[in-house]
Amino acid sequence: MIAIGVPAEDQHEPRIGLTPETVKKLVKAGASVAIRAGAGSRSHFSDEDYKAAGAKIAKTDAEAVGDADIVLTVRRPRAEIVNSMKKGASVIGMLDPFSDAEGLDALAKTGVALFAMELMPRISRAQSMDVLSSQSNLAGYKAVVDAAATFERALPMMMTAAGTVPAARVFVMGVGVAGLQAIATARRLGAIVTATDVRPAVKEQVASLGAKFIAVEDEEFKQAETAGGYAKEMSDAYKKKQAALVAEHVKSQDIVITTALIPGRPAPKLISKEMIESMKPGSVIVDLAVERGGNAELAKPSEIVAHKGVRIFGKLNLPGEVPVNASSLYARNLQAFVEPLIDKEKNTLAINWDDELVKGTLIARDGAIVNAMIAERLGAKPANAPAKKSGAKRQPKEAK
Ligand code: NAI
Repeated sequence: MIAIGVPAEDQHEPRIGLTPETVKKLVKAGASVAIRAGAGSRSHFSDEDYKAAGAKIAKTDAEAVGDADIVLTVRRPRAEIVNSMKKGASVIGMLDPFSDAEGLDALAKTGVALFAMELMPRISRAQSMDVLSSQSNLAGYKAVVDAAATFERALPMMMTAAGTVPAARVFVMGVGVAGLQAIATARRLGAIVTATDVRPAVKEQVASLGAKFIAVEDEEFKQAETAGGYAKEMSDAYKKKQAALVAEHVKSQDIVITTALIPGRPAPKLISKEMIESMKPGSVIVDLAVERGGNAELAKPSEIVAHKGVRIFGKLNLPGEVPVNASSLYARNLQAFVEPLIDKEKNTLAINWDDELVKGTLIARDGAIVNAMIAERLGAKPANAPAKKSGAKRQPKEAK
């Protein structure tokens, strides 16, 4: 029988990669499931609920993962968890594959297989496994709700006997999954919303949500989307034009939500200190890209920076602030990935190492890093990769 284990996340992570709902599905698919006592409590899933769904409650992390063929996590697990695992077992989680390559290498050397869900190819078969989408969507929502809660004025226009309250102006920078939800949320709250991106494809999506699209729409803009649907790093000339446009626009905005990312690169700097100083006192910026260096110049991870009356929020884990939904969606993403790895007839693990989704997410196996980009950061040649030796070829195009 295939054993699935879930350790507790560390104290900064309220989400969990298993819910009573996904326990039922995994047990039905033929797996036995063990979860560390209390591991779901911060997402309001009790041990009793897990038990009723068919999971075993383990007293320690070591007990939860010791017999597991597959360990499900939200974040990259601590070394002691991986050390408690069987050699050749798999860890599946958001392993933050492009930071701390040495740390990943140390985990890889223990002989476990590491799967980074962030690298899931964005093809239709894998939509239900797309953790970036499931979590970014909630981050976009929470960014606007946070901004609205701290903004000292109302968002919708209100016509009252005592006069009219003007609608707030919200500017969303970067219209991927998080940005689209930020636009939708700000619109629901009655704000006047504008949005910008370097990918032309989003223009219609912005309009369909009732917001206005503004961007430098030159020849470079027309080519800015990669085959994978992501943004490219723009030229210095484009960045200059974009900065001029943003500088003019941002002056009149009350709330700015920034979400702009380029895969494998630091976040593009879109809001300078001067632009922040041009905003009205009381304005709010929420920088969702802060983990990757931030889109706003003064943003600091985990801090609220106040500068000349403008507050800049740099919260790190917004999906973790909506943990019930974030865990539910994330656990479904994991379950959708894990189920096809199980041979239901033989009741064994049957990972097809040639499958596009397996190859795309696998970053280490048999003691070595097999992802070319991580290997490069370690200064190792992709030829060091074991067995399939396909690591070098399967970098997502958009990540280059
Ligand atoms: P992301 O998180 O990588 O980036 C956020 C946004 O920032 C993107 O829209 C990007 O174009 C924009 N951006 C980058 N540099 C910028 C700059 N200098 N100025 C302004 N904006 C900038 O993107 P996310 O949310 O992962 O979405 C990327 C694409 O993937 C989208 O086309 C989305 O529709 C698509 N997608 C496809 C899925 C699938 O096929 N399964 C699932 C989810 C998203």
